[in-house]
Amino acid sequence: MSSSILPTTSPLTSKPTTKLTNTPFISNRTLAIKTRTNQTHRSIICNHSPDNNHNHNSNHSHPKLIIPNIDRRNLLVGLGGLYTATNMPAALADPITTPDITSSCKEANSGIKDIENAVRTRKCCPPSTKKPIKSFVFPNEKTVRVRWPAHSRSKDQVEKYKKAIQAMQDLPEDHPHSFLQQAKIHCAYCNGGYTQVDNGFPDIDIQIHNSWLFFPYHRWYLYFYERILGKLINDPTFALPYWNWDNPAGMTIPEIFHDNKTGPPNPLFDIYRDARHLPPQTVDLDFGGGERDTTREIQIACNLSTIYRDLVRNGADTTSFFGGKYVAGDAPVANGDKSVGSVEAGCHIAMHRWVGDPTQANFEDMGNLYSSGYDPLFYAHHSNVDRMWTLWKNLGIKGHTELTDPDWLNASYVFYDENEELVRVYNKDCFKMENLKYKYLEETGGPWLKSRPARRSKNSQAASISTADVKTVDQLKFPVTLDAVLKVQVKRPAVNRSADEKAKVNEVLLINGIRFDGEKYVKFDVFVNDKVKEGEVVTPCDPEYAGGFAQIPHSGMNKMLMSSAARFGLTELLEDTNTEEDEYAVVALVPRVGRDDLTISDIKIELVPI
Ligand code: C2O
Repeated sequence: MSSSILPTTSPLTSKPTTKLTNTPFISNRTLAIKTRTNQTHRSIICNHSPDNNHNHNSNHSHPKLIIPNIDRRNLLVGLGGLYTATNMPAALADPITTPDITSSCKEANSGIKDIENAVRTRKCCPPSTKKPIKSFVFPNEKTVRVRWPAHSRSKDQVEKYKKAIQAMQDLPEDHPHSFLQQAKIHCAYCNGGYTQVDNGFPDIDIQIHNSWLFFPYHRWYLYFYERILGKLINDPTFALPYWNWDNPAGMTIPEIFHDNKTGPPNPLFDIYRDARHLPPQTVDLDFGGGERDTTREIQIACNLSTIYRDLVRNGADTTSFFGGKYVAGDAPVANGDKSVGSVEAGCHIAMHRWVGDPTQANFEDMGNLYSSGYDPLFYAHHSNVDRMWTLWKNLGIKGHTELTDPDWLNASYVFYDENEELVRVYNKDCFKMENLKYKYLEETGGPWLKSRPARRSKNSQAASISTADVKTVDQLKFPVTLDAVLKVQVKRPAVNRSADEKAKVNEVLLINGIRFDGEKYVKFDVFVNDKVKEGEVVTPCDPEYAGGFAQIPHSGMNKMLMSSAARFGLTELLEDTNTEEDEYAVVALVPRVGRDDLTISDIKIELVPI
């Protein structure tokens, strides 16, 4: 292969010949990617669930939704005369509205490959207390809970935390606050427990991943989880820990979740974790299923670049960071350009998969959304994911602004609060931290701020990119299957933009209509303008790496077929690869896992105002 991009799925036999220079970041270049395990046994093969036995490989077997490319809301407006006010009362109410979780819940129907060997239940509906849903009001309190880094903690914090989790585990299983019920919340919201029935779409599932609902939904989930734990130990100052994987000192599974040898059984321990990744193994924030054979030092440098990429380069505008618009009527297969946010598809998914146990049928617990909530580490992981929202905002970069679309502001979820009341909460109430009354010990900066990949030296680049195996967009027949490396040259809307223009408008690579099997782990990586010389290896810490698109199994629409889109910031990438004057960007899509059912339907570059 003439490409210098090495899929992690093929073993690297010779050492990369990357030359070292004296830049501080150059150690990244020596990162060798190797697969120690046989990839094929690690990718999830989809077995149909017994109650859902149809061929999901063919694109023409969409269930129910027959007009995939038309905005359903327009359709409904157009057909308005067909509906009476009584049978479609909410058809025009755009924001996603979660129905009553106790009366409108169904068994998790998809996203679980091997139901027979699933170690957790897919009966995920919450218990009913027969109470009506109240609208949520912030409690009147002064205390601010301070979330703490799990690796650097006081004895007191750890003891309280363990005591609270233990108390949760000791509750009767059908109590809405029990450990089991709290874990099931994630499964019901992610694996088809609820539909958009209150929006007038009883056949369309709600999915809180892969869109702008990702951050606010998980924020509310943890908000109540934390308050429930505090109440169980009668401590109004109780705060969750965060798994500080953006800091080198936090780049292993925190000891408090792992230590099960000393003292009484540890309530934070979970047996279903990848045995290769227990402490002191360093996390891989760009994990793609294969093990990297590298040093801790290099892995740390790469991890910092990954955070930089997810928060700065690929999170440069609101949509790129939060994910695309998702409103009533949208089904997981309907809108091919509903994009996933940079953190969600990046370090967030990587950590789920890195922790989940690959010897379990469904990568339980963290490697599958239906089972993630059973690992106490999940909540510390999401506490840090939530913290990324705060860090992103506090960077003070133009373009890092909150969502203001009413369809986002008014989207709502239903949870049990710490008083066992059913409450409806809205996105609009979750982005002002002063109301939420919790904060993070560290809310600004981080060592990754200095981890923009080093600019490529011109001497290390070939005069031009080899065009031998590069296709033009016109030569592609969409949808294109990503079963091998695909290289395509994409026209840029403008070249040599001034610093002034760049400050106002971001250049973004859009990969739309990514279709994949929702019951599989999927990852592909994107490299742009790879001009490094023959024999050298481009790695995820290099400037040519635009980022990855990753998914862990979760539900589609009664089917496993999912659709999403990804956005990658090009402005800095083109500067750092000395390719700002090129009329085309040469984009290489490198499938890592789940390639057989993976297709894309469009690839383009756009200028996005920030
Ligand atoms: Cu709801 Cu980390 O997933």
